[in-house]
Amino acid sequence: MSPAVKTSLKKPPSVTVVIFGASGDLTRRKLIPAIHSLACEDLLPRSTRVIGIARSSMSDGEFRSNTFEGVQSYARLKPQVCNYWPDFKDRISYLAGAYDDPKTYAELGKELGRDNALFYLATPPNLYLLIVEELGRAGLNHSDEGFRRIIIEKPFGTDLTSARRLNQQVHSVFEERQIYRIDHYLGKETVQNILTLRFANAIFEPLWNRNFIDHVQITVAERVGVEHRAGYYDQAGVLRDMFQNHLLQLLTLTSMEPPSLFEADALRDEKVKVLRALRPGAETVRAQYRGYRQEPGVKKNSQTPTYAALQLFIDNWRWQAVPFYLRSGKSLQMKTSEIAIQFKGVPHLMFPSEAEQSITPNILSLCIQPDEGVHLRFETKQPGTGMRTRSVDMDFHYAEDFGHDVLPEAYERLLLDAMQGDASLFARGDEIELSWALIDDILASWEQPSAPPLVHYQPESWGPKEADELLARQGRKWYQDCGLHHAERP
Ligand code: BG6
Repeated sequence: MSPAVKTSLKKPPSVTVVIFGASGDLTRRKLIPAIHSLACEDLLPRSTRVIGIARSSMSDGEFRSNTFEGVQSYARLKPQVCNYWPDFKDRISYLAGAYDDPKTYAELGKELGRDNALFYLATPPNLYLLIVEELGRAGLNHSDEGFRRIIIEKPFGTDLTSARRLNQQVHSVFEERQIYRIDHYLGKETVQNILTLRFANAIFEPLWNRNFIDHVQITVAERVGVEHRAGYYDQAGVLRDMFQNHLLQLLTLTSMEPPSLFEADALRDEKVKVLRALRPGAETVRAQYRGYRQEPGVKKNSQTPTYAALQLFIDNWRWQAVPFYLRSGKSLQMKTSEIAIQFKGVPHLMFPSEAEQSITPNILSLCIQPDEGVHLRFETKQPGTGMRTRSVDMDFHYAEDFGHDVLPEAYERLLLDAMQGDASLFARGDEIELSWALIDDILASWEQPSAPPLVHYQPESWGPKEADELLARQGRKWYQDCGLHHAERP
């Protein structure tokens, strides 16, 4: 059988992917399925190997059949489409061992030899340091003949102090160029497309500034609640879980200056400049969905916000006084991630007042997920006599233009990039620290007597009314267009 899709990308060198936390969900649902789909697309050398490490005892065979189930259920390209599994499974092995036991690393060292290795930390974050130190102690952080790289899952720290400490300690074993801090939003095709839209087209960038843009809204809404993750989530809350990483990544890509090259440091330098210029506005909203305190594992008097809305400003020439409104929450009406760029109104309207009533400003919506694409909302004359206008959309949908199942999973792209040695879509140490500094400031402001109270919202709603009021006080309203059918759009 031939591979499902042929591409002309250069394959990475042969590598052994070593997954710590191999018995966990991430490995089964995301990592092995991603490697499988990449291989199906003929993007990996045949010799690519996987070594899973975890504490539980399991044979190679058991590990393979667990991961096979994961591939069947979650891979974008299933085993049936490429017949890669029979050959691949023999290159998957399992090593049972304690993370603090030097024998685990000695054993790993023997299996690796001088191979290129990509270590993946998919364990609970409190084990990151221990594993990094043991890798260093065993001398597995470098190889005279190949590369050694490490991917670190989020959360990278829980505040600025812990992130800084983690950075320092990881740097004492690995050099920055070997470190890949993952934010899976950067692996999403539509997130990368923010850069293509802005910098591969000549028509948007001249308008992309305070002279033409009224404000920007970034929404990341989820339908799911806390699910089985209360142990982590009730400590973290929405700011740490979603804003420090995903929402700030969306914001920096939307607002950064054009780098001169699509290259890791050039790109991240520009993102860092935005983070340095970020300033929280005076108003924030924090809220919790009704019923959250009854979820298993959540404290009965929990004050953890599951929703937040923020106003941020970027103090530079391009964005002076342009508000960026960010909102994210769980248990909302639908799952959607959208960046809406709202342009200013026309300076003078020559049409009769009937038309004026219905004129809405132009909005460019970047639909990150679902129904990935881009919509541009503009005014059109309604057919017939008179001069009535109506808003309509020019739409681009990935599925229509490129077909279904063509969007790689975020982990596919990120794993491939790490194998290629390209860190453009990974967060750099300074980027992480600056975003934590901002989140720490907001969290600290919520500890003050003047802090907004924690309010509650109905599950399956669009969040608390306080978030609508925040925008209404500034003469604006939340906009949502992606994922809706034409008839339902505002
Ligand atoms: C994770 C958060 O980073 O992102 C989860 O920890 C959240 O709470 C998830 O559900 C959302 O990711 P996606 O890709 O489904 O939007």
